[in-house]
Amino acid sequence: MFETLKPLPPDAILGIMTLFRADPQPGKIDLSVGVYQDEQGRTPVLECVKRAERAIIEAQDSKTYVAIAGNAGFNRGMEELLYGAQHPALAASRVATVQTPGGSGGLSVAGHLIARAKPNARIYLSEPSWPNHFPLLKLAGLQLESYPYYRYAEHRVDFDALTAKLETAAAGDLVLIHGCCHNPCGADLSSDQWRSLAELCARRGLVPFIDLAYQGLAEGLEQDAYGVRLMAEQLPEVVVVASCSKNLGLYRERVGAASFVAANAEQCKLALANASNVARGIYSMPPDHGAAIVAEILRDSKLRSMWVEELAEMRNRLNSLRHLLVEKLAERRTAVDFSFIAKERGMFSFLGISKEQVVRLREQFHIYMVESSRINIAGINHANVDYVADSIAAVLN
Ligand code: LMR
Repeated sequence: MFETLKPLPPDAILGIMTLFRADPQPGKIDLSVGVYQDEQGRTPVLECVKRAERAIIEAQDSKTYVAIAGNAGFNRGMEELLYGAQHPALAASRVATVQTPGGSGGLSVAGHLIARAKPNARIYLSEPSWPNHFPLLKLAGLQLESYPYYRYAEHRVDFDALTAKLETAAAGDLVLIHGCCHNPCGADLSSDQWRSLAELCARRGLVPFIDLAYQGLAEGLEQDAYGVRLMAEQLPEVVVVASCSKNLGLYRERVGAASFVAANAEQCKLALANASNVARGIYSMPPDHGAAIVAEILRDSKLRSMWVEELAEMRNRLNSLRHLLVEKLAERRTAVDFSFIAKERGMFSFLGISKEQVVRLREQFHIYMVESSRINIAGINHANVDYVADSIAAVLN
């Protein structure tokens, strides 16, 4: 049967990661996959994670299954992190959350649940979006559409085009919105834009579907949840998917959540039962370890404060590297004004250079980025920033 399968092009992001790993050049620079790197180019295990792991291993006396919906402490902790402990939707028992294998597992559970609940609904994805959103949600059987988001020439959110397109969506359609640190462009919605979008969704009966994969890496844990909290206050139904890969550095542990805000407590129970049933049909039971770590960090006030500090260090480093790169590029007097990079947030920005220039940076200068010219800011450090700026200037001239 396998002869019927078609050869596939490499994954847009993971393909570059593979090329990077295969390059023997010392000093090569990885600005591709969205993984945090420190000043030494390492992706260390957070200290709060190390401590939580030691406590868990010491106390663990069984490897029996947890539950289809996952670790109850984790789910509760994630709800408080996403919505804020005092959120009216939580008080009204209108929120159901399941632990999932990473944010991608959460998107998949949410996608299958939406396909079951509303088989004819369309999901509007931002253009551009994370390249895996489309295939992943397509596999769940959903109909996908796109809405304009980023005006490349001006390096900003094109909110007029976004709203014009969403005004044409039908009641019951869903709008996938990046909660913060837009992947790939780094340009986020302002508070005013979130409020206008909430009003538009309410007026047209659209359901916000928020992917919050980088909470805490833009402005702070509370600030980055602004859109989620607002939508959950103003709309009867909201879908939220969260990841702990980036803000807790738990990439390979695969820990995330799919959370559903329903119109009332009765419908919330239906959402939970069906999301659990969807999970049972895809992977049966979630992995334990990552969620147990997060539950411990969110439960123990000392570990939690340690995490908040470690997260702030990552966020501040990203934001100061943005300024550093802009400064270094300005010193090279390139024809392009890169100051927009300092205004964007999270790990990513588009350089806005051509595919040929991206390939030249890779082949001649051993600097790796996604072909769309998306760079991972965290791959820059004080030792390589001059080389990065010189190389970008060289391919532009
Ligand atoms: C990225 O966008 O680079 C990350 O989210 C990693 C991935 O799986 O694509």
